[in-house]
Amino acid sequence: MLGDALPSLRTAAPGPQSHAWVDRLAVRECPAITARRARRAMQIGAADTDPIVWAEAVGSNVVDVDGNVFVDLTAGFGVAAVGHRNAAVVAAAKAQCDVLVHAMGDAFPDRRRIELMEALSARTGMDRVILGTSGSDAIDAAVKTAVIATGRHRIVAFDGGYHGLAFGPLASLGYLRGTMRQPFEKLLGGHVSWSRFGGPLPVVAALHDVAAVLVEPIQGRGGMRIAPAGWLEGLHDAAKAAGALVIHDEIYSGCGRTGPFLASNLRPDLLCLGKALGGGFPLSACLGTAHAMDAWGASTGAAIHTQTFLGHPVGCAAALAALGELDRLGPAGAARGERLAARLREVRGVSSVSGRGMMLGVHVPNPLQATHDLLDRGFIVLPAGERGEVLGLTPPYVLTDAQADAFVAALADVLAWQLG
Ligand SMILES: Cc1ncc(COP(=O)(O)O)c(C=O)c1O
Repeated sequence: MLGDALPSLRTAAPGPQSHAWVDRLAVRECPAITARRARRAMQIGAADTDPIVWAEAVGSNVVDVDGNVFVDLTAGFGVAAVGHRNAAVVAAAKAQCDVLVHAMGDAFPDRRRIELMEALSARTGMDRVILGTSGSDAIDAAVKTAVIATGRHRIVAFDGGYHGLAFGPLASLGYLRGTMRQPFEKLLGGHVSWSRFGGPLPVVAALHDVAAVLVEPIQGRGGMRIAPAGWLEGLHDAAKAAGALVIHDEIYSGCGRTGPFLASNLRPDLLCLGKALGGGFPLSACLGTAHAMDAWGASTGAAIHTQTFLGHPVGCAAALAALGELDRLGPAGAARGERLAARLREVRGVSSVSGRGMMLGVHVPNPLQATHDLLDRGFIVLPAGERGEVLGLTPPYVLTDAQADAFVAALADVLAWQLG
């Protein structure tokens, strides 16, 4: 059944319909967004690396416009954790569409937004919430809150850290700093300094004027990297001693991706969630302690932090349903991830597997080539890491054992070709 299906390709990937759509896309979309991938094709010696164009997705399967069925080991950037087109999420969103599609941000709330904030607080132990629509929104809200709460303006971030590309998070970007951040350098201020993720801890004295330390408990785009045991605890201690807040960016690692709802059981001052939170709908949250959030003071009319779509009712309804599904599917998903990791470690050419649960980095000799060759065999994966040095796997939690085993076999085949 579609959702649990193994790959089944009728054409090359991409096929003629994908090509036709990508030709149209290339005429209208800013060229910085979707790569035609000609240059990439040259790098990896492939004839063609245009993207496939998605037409349908359910469970762990994606169907493209040529009718080819793929297994998606990215969950669409980690979003479709509860499976693409999850039935409970879709039902909740449809029901909400029948009654109220849009409310009015800070001016007039609706019930779903209030229920969602209560549910998030119950799951995380945090007191207050600012909702947004993207991960970048949540990071913006967290950084602004830290500045308000401390009266300080400096941020400490980490090499390899990725927090989004809007101006606020871009300033703290540690991942591919030279390319993604460099053109805008002059607009980003000099308020961020970077430390090595998992490296020597910043000394307390160096944090005396720091508003917040911004860290992913497990780095996602940076390569599914886990810091050494005790490092995050040490970072918390140093920040606390210096009066700086700690922001956990769990936009990738949260929502059950590693088993429990959050990857870290330490309590930060501010916590950012996104991606999987909306079950496929764009929704994010910055959660905070009362101490940090109440520093904003009470609104006296025009809110000094808001958005047109803040707390969008359909997104909130979808997220409420997604939370139930994340609870139901998360722990079993993480166990499947551990099983997948164990099987991958046995494949010739895999030097190591990093990460945890359904957030894995597979170290292979040429991840870009492997990504391409796997697509040819019906598996969607993306490279991760500063130099694209790992295959990043963030599958839906509903990936079946048969799909996982077929992926392991396909990777073994791809690497056997590469290694000769
Ligand atoms: C850890 C982390 N934080 C923030 C973001 C930014 O989220 P968005 O792209 O929704 O703005 C991402 C996106 O990949 C992420 O992985």
